[in-house]
Amino acid sequence: MIFDSHAHYDSHQFDDDREDMLSNLLPKSNVIGIINCASDFKSAEMTVKLCEQYDYIYGAVGVHPHETEEAGLFDEYRLKSLADNEKIVAIGEIGLDYHYDFSPKDIQKEWFEKQIILANELDLPVIVHDREAHKDTMDILTKYKPKGVVHCFSGSVETARETINLGMYIGLGGAVTFKNAKTPVEVAKDIPLERLLLETDAPYMTPVPHRGKRCDSSYIIYTAEKIAEVRGIETEQVLKAACDNAKRLFGI
Ligand code: NI
Repeated sequence: MIFDSHAHYDSHQFDDDREDMLSNLLPKSNVIGIINCASDFKSAEMTVKLCEQYDYIYGAVGVHPHETEEAGLFDEYRLKSLADNEKIVAIGEIGLDYHYDFSPKDIQKEWFEKQIILANELDLPVIVHDREAHKDTMDILTKYKPKGVVHCFSGSVETARETINLGMYIGLGGAVTFKNAKTPVEVAKDIPLERLLLETDAPYMTPVPHRGKRCDSSYIIYTAEKIAEVRGIETEQVLKAACDNAKRLFGI
């Protein structure tokens, strides 16, 4: 059983074969659940459509840090109405990205905070993107204490422990299989199994041995195998724990 807690099937990389691929994931690869994460309003609307079309797809709506400068003054209200759907189970992906400068830091922070406040008000978890912004991300999470997950976790073991102490989950994906992956592997080994979520970030972050190809949820098996190997347990245990954890967090 595979539960992919973070994918972007609204992405244009799936335009040619989206329907074919999505209808095969359950029967061929036993993918029982996917959270499709929006990055802006167009993808949030597409996420809602995918949720209506496929039983096993759930959605997160939100404004990605890259898109915050483009977001309008009243977009919080739009977000709230999009979230009013029983298959929208999270606010995401939201957060801070200081690696790229698509949006100024103060605007990123403002949107991160107001989307967490909205999630808390709606009693929904958040799906957090943190790239090279660990300190500010932790400060904001500590201030508002949302439930949720830090996806594609790239912080240290200490930051992972802090995140877990806040009651949050750690999302791990293809990065743990990369040759130069030292910190994600340490994190994969250290965290309690009941706080782990597996994810792809499809179409990106394809695990070894398929790097370079377009990623889809079936590739989670390679990430699970790697985590099982470093923890000295069975792959099935990792997959099952990640499924149970995702269902618990997202109320599925
Ligand atoms: Ni993503």
